[in-house]
Parts: sequence; structure tokens; C-alpha cells
Amino acid sequence: MSVSKEEFKSALSRFASGVTVVTTKDRSGNLFGITVSAFCSVSLEPPMVLICIDKKTGSHHAFIETGAFVVNFLREDQSMLSQHFASPSSDKFLSVEHYVNVRGLPVLSNALAVLECRLVHSYDGGDHTIFVGEVEKTKVSEGNPLIYFRGKYCQIED
Ligand SMILES: Cc1cc2nc3c(=O)[nH]c(=O)nc-3n(C[C@H](O)[C@H](O)[C@H](O)COP(=O)(O)O)c2cc1C
Repeated sequence: MSVSKEEFKSALSRFASGVTVVTTKDRSGNLFGITVSAFCSVSLEPPMVLICIDKKTGSHHAFIETGAFVVNFLREDQSMLSQHFASPSSDKFLSVEHYVNVRGLPVLSNALAVLECRLVHSYDGGDHTIFVGEVEKTKVSEGNPLIYFRGKYCQIED
């Protein structure tokens, strides 16, 4: 039995997720950011998370070159940032408020939460690579997350 691409995507779209922007840089110091919903916590001790990155994205090589990444959780009013980081651009950070961490990676200034990670494992995941990072630093603030469900951005109703 095989599942068609349409059936698979239709089923997956019914899984509600948060939205993150994952940032990194390449060995020349060029900054990269990509909208990622394929994020998951992995381990408490040590603290580890995973992200799945399409092998065809322009930033894929940078994760491997630098061996570190930052996961920025988006707020409910940041769907524009999600779209921005999901679209190709020569410098995605020109118009986006950010600062640079000790490793030289960009961190979004107004994210709901930030996880700064060191890449510890990479696994083949079909057309994606599963990058597992050990979380070295966190930053949190108050607010509600941006939600992605059935191809649309949604908000939590309090
Ligand atoms: C809501 C949303 C979630 C996404 N999740 C992922 C993901 O988990 N992994 C991935 O590789 N691409 C994901 N994408 C697509 C990338 O953000 C998109 O391909 C991006 O342009 C890649 O950037 P780059 O090629 O400039 O590196 C997602 C896009 C959107 C809008």
C-alpha cells in the first residue's frame, strides 16, 4: 500500500504546529534564516531538539558548515515574518530586527522564545535532513504563539 503525495500532505495539514524561524550562518559568515514547522523536542537531559530541513533549501549547507543554529518561536502577530523567511531573498535580515549571538548567529529580537543550539547529530530523512541540536541557551518572553493549521496561520483563543 502506498500513500500519494496529496493524501500525505492532506493528512499532515491537519496537524497543528507552532511556527519557528531557524537561523544559522555559513563558513563565510553569510546569515541564513528559514521558516520551519518541523521542530520537535527530543531530550530533557541533555536538552536536545530537532529540526527537519529540506535538502534543496539554500540554507541546508550552512547548518553543516557552522554546526550551530538558533530556533526562534514566532508570536501570533508574526505571520509576515514567517512568510518573509519562507521566501527566497539574497539577505533576509536586512529589514528584520535581530542581534548576533556569541557564535555570530542571528537571533530575532522579538521572538516568543529562543533556543540557541549546537549541532550534535545529523540524520538522513528522505528529502530532508534531521538536525539534532543540544540547547546551550534559552530566552523566553510572554505572549501567544503563531499556529499553522491546514495551510493557514491561526491564533489561540484565550
Ligand atoms: C509555515 C511553513 C513551515 C515550513 N516548514 C518547513 C520545514 O519544517 N522545513 C523546511 O525545510 N522548510 C519548511 N518550510 C519552507 C521553507 O521555509 C522555504 O522553503 C524557505 O524558502 C527555504 O529558505 P532558503 O531556500 O532561502 O534557505 C516552511 C514554510 C512555511 C510557510
